[in-house]
Amino acid sequence: MKLWAGRFTKATDILTEEFNASIEVDSRMYRQDIEGSIAHAAMLARQGIISQAECDQIVAGLKEIREELEAGQLEFSVEAEDVHMNIETLLTAKIGEVGKKLHTARSRNDQVALDVRLYLRDEVLEVRRLILALQETILQLAAEHIETIMPGYTHMQKAQPVTLGHHLLAYFEMLRRDIGRLDDCRKRLLAMPLGSGALAATGFPLDRDYVRVQLGFTELTRNSLDGVSDRDFAIEFCSFASILMMHLSRWAEELVLWSTEEFSFMTLDDAFSTGSSIMPQKKNPDIAELVRGKTGRVYGDLITLLTLMKALPLAYNKDMQEDKEALFDAVDTVKKCLLVFTPMLATARFNKQQMAKSARGSFTNATDLADYLANKGLPFRDAHAVVGQAVLYCINNHCALEELELPTLQRFSELIDKDVYQSLDIKACIARRSIPGGPAPVAVERALEESRQWLESIKHG
Ligand code: ARG
Repeated sequence: MKLWAGRFTKATDILTEEFNASIEVDSRMYRQDIEGSIAHAAMLARQGIISQAECDQIVAGLKEIREELEAGQLEFSVEAEDVHMNIETLLTAKIGEVGKKLHTARSRNDQVALDVRLYLRDEVLEVRRLILALQETILQLAAEHIETIMPGYTHMQKAQPVTLGHHLLAYFEMLRRDIGRLDDCRKRLLAMPLGSGALAATGFPLDRDYVRVQLGFTELTRNSLDGVSDRDFAIEFCSFASILMMHLSRWAEELVLWSTEEFSFMTLDDAFSTGSSIMPQKKNPDIAELVRGKTGRVYGDLITLLTLMKALPLAYNKDMQEDKEALFDAVDTVKKCLLVFTPMLATARFNKQQMAKSARGSFTNATDLADYLANKGLPFRDAHAVVGQAVLYCINNHCALEELELPTLQRFSELIDKDVYQSLDIKACIARRSIPGGPAPVAVERALEESRQWLESIKHG
């Protein structure tokens, strides 16, 4: 018999029962559900709403259920609908009548809000740890490649030389913002909703703050209607996750590109690549591609939640039961992606010669020639035009700017002197970009140091 069946005269239609149940999805919150119930029972006893002996029985029963679930000795049923009623049913079966007192001054509406927050609280820390591990790997790699020259691109056309270390630190910055968004999401996540009841709180004299402290929350939700109908925290997580995945997908795209024969900037380790069932020679960057592809799932999860919550009147509506599948999927996907991405990156080998060679082509030092002329007093716009002429000359004569003889160069501007060759040297082009945020090895060294300190300072945050 259903826990809510009192006013019903008929059993639930069998397909409806299946349709209505969420146990298949929400069973993964059994630990959080039990944790919340233990805190609730302890508070009920403290407030004299149930006796201490009753509380002890309930808590012992819940702990036994947790152990038995963990040992695979208990099964949930679709008939009991969701994780909350499954555990309550198991509890009453185990300890008898007193089990029925647990749900005093509580509704599944505030219970599920609590469980999801507890679940996400733990997962957020795990995701955070995985991002920090990736950032750690970036710093190690960037330190190895402070001097590794590569071409920087705009519009996928070679633009100006940078270093691999600098390029890698760009991803460090994206992840730093991701951590900021995650931590921000965590702040609002840690509000304790129990006591909101079904929607209108309860007349029982609950000590909500005691429960809050027991469960490690930082504040109480401040309005019972909002307490049961707020899913912003799940949306915020998916929004954080979507942006993180967008970053990983950009990176994955570069890894795919860089490991082509055409680029040959890097080789992915065999352990993070796959072969073809027909073409024996193939080695494909499937893992990077999958990370790129899974970004779509996570965006989907965000849109699912936004659409789910759109136009829902206050307070709880059953639509909200659909929130968990999307949230869990986002959590699982982000974790899986980070877990493979970090070692894939750490084991990749970079082809320094090829990168440096590539950086030298396509007039990546043209801006430096214009800067050279601007430094000699020519207005930059004029310098730009002069260098454009020189580039065109080189294109027609199949050579690089630095390969032109001094008299040839001087035909474009008499301001050009023999010190121009120093200006055109790729290494020098990078080295002079030493202002904060620049690719020069000295600047990257400073950025690395700051990044290390930041990483250290937020590790335990
Ligand atoms: N399984 C439900 C959910 O996940 C729990 C809350 C149900 N509340 C209700 N009034 N039917 O949202």
